[in-house]
Amino acid sequence: MSSVTTNHTPKGLEGIVATNSTICYIDGDRGVLAYRGIDIHELAEHSNFEETCYLLWFGRLPSAAELTDFRRRLAQERHLHPAILDFLRTAPRSALPMDVLRTAVSALAFYDPENTKNDHDANINKAIRLTSQIAMIVASYDRIRKGKNVVDADPSLSHSANLLLQLNGSRPSPTAERALDIALVLHADHELNASTFAARVVAATLSDMHSAVTAAIGALKGPLHGGANEAVFRILETVAREKADPVAYVRNLLAQKKKIPGFGHRVYHTEDPRATHLRVMSRDLGKASGQPQWYEMSEKIEAFVKAEKKLNANVDFYSASTYHTLGIDEDLFTPIFAVSRIGGWAAHVIEQLDDNRLIRPRAEYLGPEYPQRYVPVDQR
Ligand SMILES: CC(C)(COP(=O)(O)OP(=O)(O)OC[C@H]1O[C@@H](n2cnc3c(N)ncnc32)[C@H](O)[C@@H]1OP(=O)(O)O)[C@@H](O)C(=O)NCCC(=O)NCCS
Repeated sequence: MSSVTTNHTPKGLEGIVATNSTICYIDGDRGVLAYRGIDIHELAEHSNFEETCYLLWFGRLPSAAELTDFRRRLAQERHLHPAILDFLRTAPRSALPMDVLRTAVSALAFYDPENTKNDHDANINKAIRLTSQIAMIVASYDRIRKGKNVVDADPSLSHSANLLLQLNGSRPSPTAERALDIALVLHADHELNASTFAARVVAATLSDMHSAVTAAIGALKGPLHGGANEAVFRILETVAREKADPVAYVRNLLAQKKKIPGFGHRVYHTEDPRATHLRVMSRDLGKASGQPQWYEMSEKIEAFVKAEKKLNANVDFYSASTYHTLGIDEDLFTPIFAVSRIGGWAAHVIEQLDDNRLIRPRAEYLGPEYPQRYVPVDQR
């Protein structure tokens, strides 16, 4: 017990600073999010997903030549080992895409040429490969489960345009490409969120990048984390199908003491800065695609939850209607989150391994007082 430094551990480690990091800055009171010091609003407006990955992994923006080379390296890795495609073909059609992604990412390790290497350069290479492969797995499994052909990657396209091509079988419009690209930038990192913490804990045992990312995908799946975007759309869909009043529907959920997905945040006490962009994207894409109803419903729900519970929309609330209007199925929303968050997971795994120490906290023991006596089974 002597090494335990606190007797009052906050539930869920709220407010606990668990590591040093130079990757992501968050001010939860002012609603600030920045990658390597650059505000997310500037990145959403001017940057793109590839450049954001470079920024997260190398700690600075690339020069024009570095960015060209980095894009080329990502595009070169747009291929999946035949065994991975076989796995996608033999997975049950009913399997959740998020579960398929988790298991496929674990299997990618078998075919990674640097599987046994854990040094900085090997991990950058693995980050590049995983970024391209995760997007391809999500798109390929979606095609396979729908009985469609797997679409060849196009190395001339951006990461987001290629993902939409491989999902839908046709090149996206510039508007759709840019919308997805911004969404990927916004989701790329978020400090010590649950999945990133999971990734760092695994990496800190000197396991490997694939194990860390597999654990992270498992954590992201949960509805309190990345799974919330899918849960948001299920509400919107139910409201639309039942022709219900969105406010009455959500009021009823609150009356049942249910949490409303897409609202609340452990760190932000004000608007989640990512929601600011996704709200506008949801509105504009809804209008442009002739489906304004998803945004209109969302807007009503947001106003109600804010007035009733003083809770702000988080990143997942408007990403649901945004992804839907981009033609993405709802059970792909959380896998698409992973397509982006691999940027952050990889950055944190690399940072952890560059200056590693095992992450092994303590628990405050609240069980039966020590010592208790063992009672033989025939005397209990
Ligand atoms: C994100 C989240 C897990 C943060 O959880 P947390 O910091 O542990 O906060 P708590 O769950 O302890 O919530 C604090 C209070 O706000 C309420 N609350 C928080 N989020 C809520 C929500 N989405 N709907 C309704 N009430 C909510 C809780 O019921 C609790 O109320 P109480 O004190 O009266 O019991 C939580 O807000 C949530 O479950 N949101 C919905 C899921 C979601 O959108 N997740 C994605 C996050 S980016």
